[in-house]
Amino acid sequence: MAENNKYFSKVSWRRLVSCVNGQEDFWQSFFKSPAKFFSDHHVSYIKNKPNDPTTISIIEFEGKKYLAKRYNRKGFWHGLKIMFRGSNALSSWYAACLLYQDGTVSLAEPISMVEKRWGPFHRSAFVVTEFLSGALKASELRDIDMKATLEGIARLANQLQAARIQHNDFQLENILFVGWKPYLVDFDHIRFFSKNSVLFAQSNKKDLDRIQECFDGRDLLELQKLLGVRKNQE
Ligand SMILES: Nc1ncnc2c1ncn2[C@@H]1O[C@H](COP(=O)(O)OP(=O)(O)OP(=O)(O)O)[C@@H](O)[C@H]1O
Ligand SMILES: [Mg+2]
Repeated sequence: MAENNKYFSKVSWRRLVSCVNGQEDFWQSFFKSPAKFFSDHHVSYIKNKPNDPTTISIIEFEGKKYLAKRYNRKGFWHGLKIMFRGSNALSSWYAACLLYQDGTVSLAEPISMVEKRWGPFHRSAFVVTEFLSGALKASELRDIDMKATLEGIARLANQLQAARIQHNDFQLENILFVGWKPYLVDFDHIRFFSKNSVLFAQSNKKDLDRIQECFDGRDLLELQKLLGVRKNQE
């Protein structure tokens, strides 16, 4: 059993479970049978495509809504691969916990997770986070308020740099706005860099290039100006 300030986690042969400290009892039924828990409390799907590696749904538990992400098992060879490399579910869970505690990046609160295992063999995994109610994706907000969208993106770009992380999928579907506050989601491919790592600049550029691909014309120029302002202030 391991505990840090905010998160509890426990590993056994059959599963790894983790949640906000003190909520172990509350999430007991989820820890025991996550798939059943998801179907019992399921409200609606945000994403449910056959053969997709992940399923995203909204669940309701004890009167509160949560965002639930299921990492589907893709067969024996996939299980074997992540046995050595580690699973996206786990790395994204630990990354979110770290960043949420640290406060440098604005993201939905990570609440609870289960990874089903058979010894070292990782199977399906389930992650529950705060549901950002009423959130608009950047791809939706841009049609309503382009200026706020670009400013929010620049704020997140600043945060990525301050935290020295490469998001690796920094695009409009992974940026949500509640009011004008931007949130970053989807940490499945995140990479952390140490303070002295010379590789960060190149990786950070890839994130910035990716988000710039989502714009053109005057909007792109405006975004580049905002990102440029950020660079000049360093
Ligand atoms: N905490 C949240 N609150 C509300 N909606 C969310 C939250 N997290 C994710 N979403 C919604 O779910 C969508 C998919 O989430 P996410 O990017 O984590 O999953 P994904 O499997 O990586 O999807 P994709 O393959 O499309 O990137 C997001 O684009 C967003 O619309
Ligand atoms: Mg995504």
